[in-house]
Amino acid sequence: MRVDVVTIFPDYFGPAAGVGGPLGVSLIGKAAARGDVAFHIHDLRQWATDVHHTVDDTPFGGGPGMVMKADVWGAALDAILSDKSQSSANPSLPWAATPSTPSASPVPSVTGARLVVPTPSGVPFTQEMALAYAGERHLVFACGRYEGIDARVVEDARARGMAVDEVSIGDYVLAGGEAAVVVIVEAVCRLLPGVLGNERSVSDDSFGGGGGSMHGLLEGPVYTRPRAWRGNEVPAVLLSGDHAAIARWQRDEALRRTAERRPDLIRRLAAADGLDARDRAVLIQAGFPVDGESMAH
Ligand code: ADE
Repeated sequence: MRVDVVTIFPDYFGPAAGVGGPLGVSLIGKAAARGDVAFHIHDLRQWATDVHHTVDDTPFGGGPGMVMKADVWGAALDAILSDKSQSSANPSLPWAATPSTPSASPVPSVTGARLVVPTPSGVPFTQEMALAYAGERHLVFACGRYEGIDARVVEDARARGMAVDEVSIGDYVLAGGEAAVVVIVEAVCRLLPGVLGNERSVSDDSFGGGGGSMHGLLEGPVYTRPRAWRGNEVPAVLLSGDHAAIARWQRDEALRRTAERRPDLIRRLAAADGLDARDRAVLIQAGFPVDGESMAH
């Protein structure tokens, strides 16, 4: 997978564009070192044409702050999408087998790339989206700052056949899209084939991205040695060797935790017929209303 990031703060991603920054360490760093993902960090200002490398201007219609200029963003995306080196660095991966379509025009219309624009006014980024992105050949992230990017940039990219998502990582406002890109890239890269090395840990994630038994629930508590620490014992069932009992206990804990912290997820699961009789009993015992009427809200 190729990942391009366009930003006015390339140093955010590391002193040498990704090397030593958040994209160079841990799982992502290893995936990049293996060639499963190739990062290309670009300074938006290189596409500004004036002496001051201006990337923003005052908003039409008035209002506070500045808006990022369509012409600068348009030039950046055109250049990145016409870059002939945009295929995956790892030819053994399925998406690397599809060569990027050569284009006679300097501005390709159907690019094979997905443009992701992090913005607090976007659709919520979810584990399902992370799974879908992990199957993409090429992601291009456009980091907005100030009051955002001129809306015509997204419209134009869509009109040229590019898949475009405006996504939010939460109901709060960051100073720019860079931190959101790191969040999204981390959520996606751990789902790339071979990155986790343990398929089960994906399906047992909170939100159960892999569609396993914990699908739609927050993950419950976890423990490791020693068995007793500061007078606190690990729950006895985890030491029992009874795998069915352990799996049931883990689901019960996940249900209780989800009911307490994310009642909306329990309601969603109930609406999708995802709760069995035992699940309902556990929830009722935990004081969560699971009868049809009270769950409707
Ligand atoms: N940029 C600023 N705030 C953001 C948010 N909550 N999610 C994604 N991108 C953002």
